[in-house]
Amino acid sequence: MIIAVDGPTASGKGTIARALAAHYGLPHLDTGLLYRAVGRQVQLNGGDANNPDDALAATTFDESLLGDPELRSEAAGGLASRVSAHPAVRSALFERQRTFATQQGGAVLDGRDIGTVIAPEAEVKLFVTASVDARSQRRYREMQERGEDVTLETIAEDLRRRDERDRTRPAAPLVPAPDACIIDTSALGRDEAIAAAIEVVDQISGS
Ligand code: C5P
Repeated sequence: MIIAVDGPTASGKGTIARALAAHYGLPHLDTGLLYRAVGRQVQLNGGDANNPDDALAATTFDESLLGDPELRSEAAGGLASRVSAHPAVRSALFERQRTFATQQGGAVLDGRDIGTVIAPEAEVKLFVTASVDARSQRRYREMQERGEDVTLETIAEDLRRRDERDRTRPAAPLVPAPDACIIDTSALGRDEAIAAAIEVVDQISGS
C-alpha cells in the first residue's frame, strides 16, 4: 500500500506520515528533507537558490547532509522552497522518490506532490492542511523549543510567502489530488489528527 501525505508547511503532515508508517509498519520518506538538502548544498557551494543551474548542481549532495540538524531550520525551509520551483531539480529528485514509493510492501511519503506526481496511483492520498494561524503557532512553539530567535509575526509572513510560492509555481504546484481526502488539523491535537488519518486509511484499505 502506498500512502501519499501532502500539504503545506507545518500542517502536521510529517507527524501524521511518521505515525502512519509506524502504525502500518511501512517505511517512510520525508521528501521535504531532500529539497532542504539541495537548498543547503547550494548555500554550501556559495551559489544562488534562485539560479536553476546552481540548484541543479546541488542535487548531487552527499547523503550525510540528510542528517544535518540545520536542515530543520526556517532558513533551510526557505531555500528548499526556492530550489524546489526549478523543474530540473524536481526531475533530478524524481527517481529516488519514485523508487521509494514503489518498493515492495508499500511506503508512506510526505511532501507536496506525492499524490499528484510521484505516486498518482497511491491507494491512499491525504491532503493535510490547517489555517495559517494554527500553523504559525505550531511552528513558533517548535522554534522556541529549539532555541531559535523568531517572532510569531515573522513566521506567519514566511509561511504565507512559502505557501504562495508552492501553490503558484508551474512545476508540481501544491494542490490536492482530485481524489485526495482532506484533513484539516487546525482544531485537532496531535493524537486526534493521527486518529483521523488512521480512520481514513482503514476505511480506504478496508482493514
Ligand atoms: O515539507 P518541508 O517544509 O520540509 O518542505 C520544504 C520545501 O520543499 C517546501 O516549502 C516546498 O517548496 C518543497 N517541497 C516540494 N515538494 C515536496 C516536498 C517539499 O516542493 N515533495
